[in-house]
Amino acid sequence: MSRKIGMWLYNNSGGDAIQKEIIKKLRDRDIKTINDINLRHATAKNGHILHNELKVDELDLFFSYNAGEQTQYQMFLYQALNRVMPMINNFDAFSLTEDKFQTAFLLRQHGIDTPSFKLCHRDDTHELNEIMKKWQRMVYKPTDGWGGVGLTKIENQASLDMLMPFLNQMDLRFFYVEKFIKYDNTDFRVDIVDGEFVGCYGRKASKSDWRTNVTSGGSVFLREPDDEVIELAKKASKVCGTDIAGVDIIYDLEKEKYVVLEVNGIPAFATPEQEKLGLGFNKKKIDLIVDMIDRKTKK
Ligand SMILES: Nc1ncnc2c1ncn2[C@@H]1O[C@H](COP(=O)(O)OP(=O)(O)O)[C@@H](O)[C@H]1O
Ligand SMILES: [Mg+2]
Repeated sequence: MSRKIGMWLYNNSGGDAIQKEIIKKLRDRDIKTINDINLRHATAKNGHILHNELKVDELDLFFSYNAGEQTQYQMFLYQALNRVMPMINNFDAFSLTEDKFQTAFLLRQHGIDTPSFKLCHRDDTHELNEIMKKWQRMVYKPTDGWGGVGLTKIENQASLDMLMPFLNQMDLRFFYVEKFIKYDNTDFRVDIVDGEFVGCYGRKASKSDWRTNVTSGGSVFLREPDDEVIELAKKASKVCGTDIAGVDIIYDLEKEKYVVLEVNGIPAFATPEQEKLGLGFNKKKIDLIVDMIDRKTKK
């Protein structure tokens, strides 16, 4: 086989079966996969990045798809590799989507609706108080979080006053806040690969929470997106430059339009349980990824 790619994909929640399927389909196209290249165990020496005996930089492409275990060190090597070979996702898009402020800023620049947001220096508490007066309710968001972790809903000035001493203690560089969107506590997760719509599902927050994340008690349900939702997700993915994206969308009941909450660079495949529920997009997603790898490694 003349083409050789590297892969690092999560093993839990059915990821091991997905890997096998991708490797098999690539082999059918005469592309060999070296699996389980965890850059955590790689070193760089002069002009090469080494994983065991393998020169990772000499592969034709690297497919990195492991959300839970990405460290600063791995990102550092990811960035270096991206300069010399195709990566999926490409490093720029991946690092962009790792940050909610950077993403929302770029989306807004391109005319894509997001919740209203404000970023200010951590000493600028005046700004925070001003925006609170205007919005009435807001969400404090860590810009690099996931799974709803750290999101704090601020319902009134008194709760902001109470929260401030804690935020000040955390040695943050800045505050990133969003207007709290009035919505029906459900969202759309829309997967896009290589610019194409792959699949969609919905998530519903539990009775006791306002966040839809499964890790915050939310539940997944089958949901058909209308064309507007699909187009919005495609546009967001294009602006971010992502080869693979999972776009989170909610419907703003006051503005009466869809808004993009965030773009995820490593959206999970449907788990075996979710597949039983009827989420059937894994095959299409795998096929589009294999097509894309094939195209990007054509010599
Ligand atoms: N501005 C907002 N207004 C109302 N709800 C929000 C807002 N931002 C986030 N949420 C809720 O919190 C959840 C998590 O937010 P999100 O930005 O997707 O971050 P995460 O990376 O933690 O998933 C969303 O799925 C949604 O239910
Ligand atoms: Mg999300």
